[in-house]
Amino acid sequence: MLKKLLDGALTKLTRYPSWVAYEPHLIPPPALMREEGITVLEEWFRWAEEWSFLLRIYGGITKRSHVLEIGCGLGRTAFPLRFILSEGAYNGFEICKYKIDFLQKTFHKAHPRFNFVWANIHNTYYNPQGNIQASNYKFPYVDNSFDVVYAASVFTHMLPDIAENYFKETARVLKPNGRAVFSFFILDFYQPKKERSSGFARSGFNFDHPYGSFGSEFSIANPDNPEEMTAYKKSLIQKYAAAAGLALVQEPVPGFWSDSSATWVGAQDIVVLKKP
Ligand SMILES: C[S@@+](CC[C@H](N)C(=O)[O-])C[C@H]1O[C@@H](n2cnc3c(N)ncnc32)[C@H](O)[C@@H]1O
Repeated sequence: MLKKLLDGALTKLTRYPSWVAYEPHLIPPPALMREEGITVLEEWFRWAEEWSFLLRIYGGITKRSHVLEIGCGLGRTAFPLRFILSEGAYNGFEICKYKIDFLQKTFHKAHPRFNFVWANIHNTYYNPQGNIQASNYKFPYVDNSFDVVYAASVFTHMLPDIAENYFKETARVLKPNGRAVFSFFILDFYQPKKERSSGFARSGFNFDHPYGSFGSEFSIANPDNPEEMTAYKKSLIQKYAAAAGLALVQEPVPGFWSDSSATWVGAQDIVVLKKP
């Protein structure tokens, strides 16, 4: 009986080889993944699927969408989009050269509608040698060219003057009615003395240090390396959205990192913006 079942399954697999959608060469080797803080393969895919879901629900992504990812890393969230965007296109830019080298060699070759660009932007944690200031960086895309712009755990490593510029640049490259989906650690959800569960219990997520002239509106976790982990008050995000001409579609959606909400959708807090 078992043999018959196995034979049947094998015959089907041989007849339908495309049933195996998984493309192992698009998955970075463990050493590269560890650079992204990931040591468990399952977590790699869990985050990827979380973002494909967030983009469908909050970004309104369709198979024809033109999408920009800010800080695309090693293509973790691009991975599930390669079948969703069957008639659309994806662009990602990133500040670590080795990540873009990996993606151009693997992902772009297999899926030419997915394009990846390197910008040697300075970041105290990810690219301390970078020679481009992000606070006046112009995204390398023309005006009104994307339906959706997203950043998965990138504003969580960014200082406020850069976030302010990135909101303006997002507004510039979004088409009218286009949406932005950004994840943040939002200070309004952070409870300094509360014991957190999960991987977020670490002191690396204790946003207890003010930075610059931002008072209570912005905090960092490590004063020796400001962009290792950053957190914003909702009021500062609202200020930057308004200055960029973007509207908040809804209240930020709390993630499970802060343990402040009984229910959650993803790990980090989600901000959804719209260009009128
Ligand atoms: C936590 S990783 C997330 C990577 C990717 N978004 C993902 O979900 O797998 C943060 C990424 O943001 C990139 N990054 C940091 N500052 C940036 C900036 N100013 N512009 C673009 N990317 C930036 C880092 O190099 C890093 O790859």
